[in-house]
Amino acid sequence: MKNDFLGRSLSVINDLTVDEQIFLYKQAQRLKEKWKNKEDLSKFQIKTDTGIYIVFLEPSTRTKESFVNAAKFHKNAKINIFESEHSSFNKKESYVDTFNMLTGYSDYSIFIIRSKLEGTCKLLDEKVSDFASRHNLPSPSFINAGDGKHEHPTQEILDEFTFLEQMNFNNDYIHIALIGDLLHGRTVHSKVDGLRIFKNVEVDLVAPNELQMPTHYISKMKQKGYNVRIFNSIEEYLKQNKKAKVWYFTRLQLERMGEDVLEKEHILRKSVTFAKDFLSLLPQDVKFYHPLPRHKTFPTIPTFLDSLPVNGWEKQAINGYWTRIILLSMFGGALNAPFDTSKKSIKINEEDFVVAAPIKDGRKGVLTEGKRGIKPIENGTVIDHIAKGHSPEKIYETIMKIRKILMFYNIDSADGIFKSADGNYKGYISLPDVHLSKKQIKKLSAISPNTTVNIIKNGRVKEKYRISLPPIIYGFEELMCKNENCITNPKNDENVHVSFIRNEDNQLICEYCETAHTFEEIWSL
Ligand code: NCD
Repeated sequence: MKNDFLGRSLSVINDLTVDEQIFLYKQAQRLKEKWKNKEDLSKFQIKTDTGIYIVFLEPSTRTKESFVNAAKFHKNAKINIFESEHSSFNKKESYVDTFNMLTGYSDYSIFIIRSKLEGTCKLLDEKVSDFASRHNLPSPSFINAGDGKHEHPTQEILDEFTFLEQMNFNNDYIHIALIGDLLHGRTVHSKVDGLRIFKNVEVDLVAPNELQMPTHYISKMKQKGYNVRIFNSIEEYLKQNKKAKVWYFTRLQLERMGEDVLEKEHILRKSVTFAKDFLSLLPQDVKFYHPLPRHKTFPTIPTFLDSLPVNGWEKQAINGYWTRIILLSMFGGALNAPFDTSKKSIKINEEDFVVAAPIKDGRKGVLTEGKRGIKPIENGTVIDHIAKGHSPEKIYETIMKIRKILMFYNIDSADGIFKSADGNYKGYISLPDVHLSKKQIKKLSAISPNTTVNIIKNGRVKEKYRISLPPIIYGFEELMCKNENCITNPKNDENVHVSFIRNEDNQLICEYCETAHTFEEIWSL
């Protein structure tokens, strides 16, 4: 059983289990107490030669400086602040090459990375271990210090720790309002999983439509059993009676907004800015939090609040130091847990998307179409029910996409659009003497789910399968994440193949940046 956290990475908050997160919060609580009592803190310090690399490719004050100070707490560690402006990133070196090299400079390395590209730590965690094993070095740890609009797991850790402090470490229940730019704010995206440490969760999302939480995150919260309510503005929120005692504000992320949203900046900002006359409507003992920075001209938590008891954000920011010390203690091997800490991989049932269907009359499918002019085939494959129920244009487009991606354009085949018995149109491709491999059927399921594959032998349908969207789609070169800031997007030249996981709403979530796609959007053709 593994009890240490060496080699573990934190790309998203979910990379730590709830038990592991609670372990971290308890250790941070102990560290703070010992520090207050002026007790010896050496048991929290990393003992071995560890290189801590701090790599910030986007601006930062709190996250970077609290990490620098937290790293200095670990006196045996070598702290390296990577100067990206003067690095070979400017000579078009890839992330993988850069971090491979840095891994060679210490017995063990912890990388703390903030980047505009989403999913960077996940990619590096997967790729750099090959370099490490080539050189007999342990796999390094990667810590995401904020990747684009995706996640900010170490901010999540300090936020949850601060909420627990407010609740005297009782994790039975939290009622929290998330206010501001929920669309682009990575700190609120991390809340979707981070709030799981509470047994009962109520979340109020307070944001105008243009800045509301992406729908796949809302569904995820509901699936986790959170009670979710949506409000358009603070004003609207205050008009009802069930107000949270934890208010979490986020900045309008102007640098990530498109022109259309930027035009409305002032109106949007007003709806999530706290005004003086709201004060009398606040519940008792409410605390305001904010990952900071706040805008110096138009802050959503104005400075008149600083000296009031609602100010929770200052203590929150200081907690960044304590919680990051503990995260480094864990990943640097100084703290062991009393439970198994080996990385758990999620098990996905790969088989449920190809289901054998009954064959009513072995000749029926072939002959019906034959009657309308397509030659019945003796041996081969018939793909049927393509884009059934859609417009003929859409069906034609899907047929062409299947032909292109499965490279059917240079084989003897026929296709067509038919009206089926129920009056709906459907597409059809008949492929004499072609037998699809498992991989091709999987590909087809991701291009055109809810289609039927008939295997024809000696003029009869011998096998029939209904295919639906696979639970995980990977390993095809033509796949592409539509998010230009995703580390896998071809624009970023990192040469990685993207993969997608299907969620309960049949959306395909990029495994790196977690952007939601329809099955039509995942193909680069
Ligand atoms: C946040 C960030 O950079 O994601 N700040 C932080 O890390 N404390 C929030 C923000 O930039 O709005």
